[in-house]
Amino acid sequence: MSSGFPSFPTMRMRRLRKTPQLRNLVRETSLKLSHLIQPIFLVPGAGIRNELKSLPGQCQWSSDRAVEHVKRLQQSGLESVLLFAIPDFKDEIGSAAWSDNGIVQQTVSTLKREVPEVVVITDLCFCEYTSHGHCGIIRDGDVDNDATLEIIAKQTLSHARAGADMIAPSGMMDGMVGCMRHALDESGFSELPIMSYSAKYASACYGPFREAADCAPSEGDRKSYQMDPGNIEEALRETLLDIQEGADIVMVKPGVFYLDVIRAVKERFQYPTACYNVSGEYAMVKAAAANGWIDGDKVMLEMLLSFRRAGADMIITYFAEEIAQKGMLIP
Ligand code: PBG
Ligand code: ZN
Repeated sequence: MSSGFPSFPTMRMRRLRKTPQLRNLVRETSLKLSHLIQPIFLVPGAGIRNELKSLPGQCQWSSDRAVEHVKRLQQSGLESVLLFAIPDFKDEIGSAAWSDNGIVQQTVSTLKREVPEVVVITDLCFCEYTSHGHCGIIRDGDVDNDATLEIIAKQTLSHARAGADMIAPSGMMDGMVGCMRHALDESGFSELPIMSYSAKYASACYGPFREAADCAPSEGDRKSYQMDPGNIEEALRETLLDIQEGADIVMVKPGVFYLDVIRAVKERFQYPTACYNVSGEYAMVKAAAANGWIDGDKVMLEMLLSFRRAGADMIITYFAEEIAQKGMLIP
């Protein structure tokens, strides 16, 4: 330091940050509409568009209105949707879930007729359909894994018969992917892909969703089947099992607090990897923006970019429609 030699840097990182065009040229991560999947909530009835308080900008739709909505999404450039439904009746075993004229099944077949290019993914679970709100059949105070597998196979085939482009099991039952793959292959649906919620954590960020899909458990929690937030090695084992059982796409859920898991899964398996930007993450951004505490548009984009940078190929997000409408992509 005493030599008088000026300690100016020879490598100047700022050279490539000078203009938007230079920044575009060297950006490592992009965000395109083709990366985004918009969740849709279906309810029984007709002519219904019910705005959700805890998910501002999101609605429950009756089948007829949902089809119109998906047409608009497609016109705005989106290519994929994920369907959830509240059925017209619930029982102990969620039997409405595998009815061939259930709300998901009917909406899928209408969508495939009227907007055939849109990728229609169906969420497969039972919590929306059971009177107790758990993701399977309850026996001795807990969800019985293998009894639930039997009805998972039934629900899978009903979604397949309806014409779903992809099925996404979210119940975190052991062996669910293998059971679905087997059922599909046996019944002539060997070309139908499975997107598995492989590493789904027992997160506190699902609150608004449980209101939207009317699926909060009436007693207890989901910790005996969803993952403990402290674990990442377990997420890799869960994902490996799903891949071995035949998953075509693996998923990490939620997104923001689990970016490390997304990165680890992508690096380890190099599989098509989805992340679920869940309802609580969306609601936090919307609430802070509504209070004027953050710039909602910028935070939305930065959040979605973080999933892509972590390694997600695709993102299930309630922001999809807004990104499409505002054309806020990252080149
Ligand atoms: C139900 C299901 C949940 C979500 C997707 N599928 C809730 C849960 O597991 O309790 C959460 C999605 C979100 O919060 O956006 N199996
Ligand atoms: Zn469930």
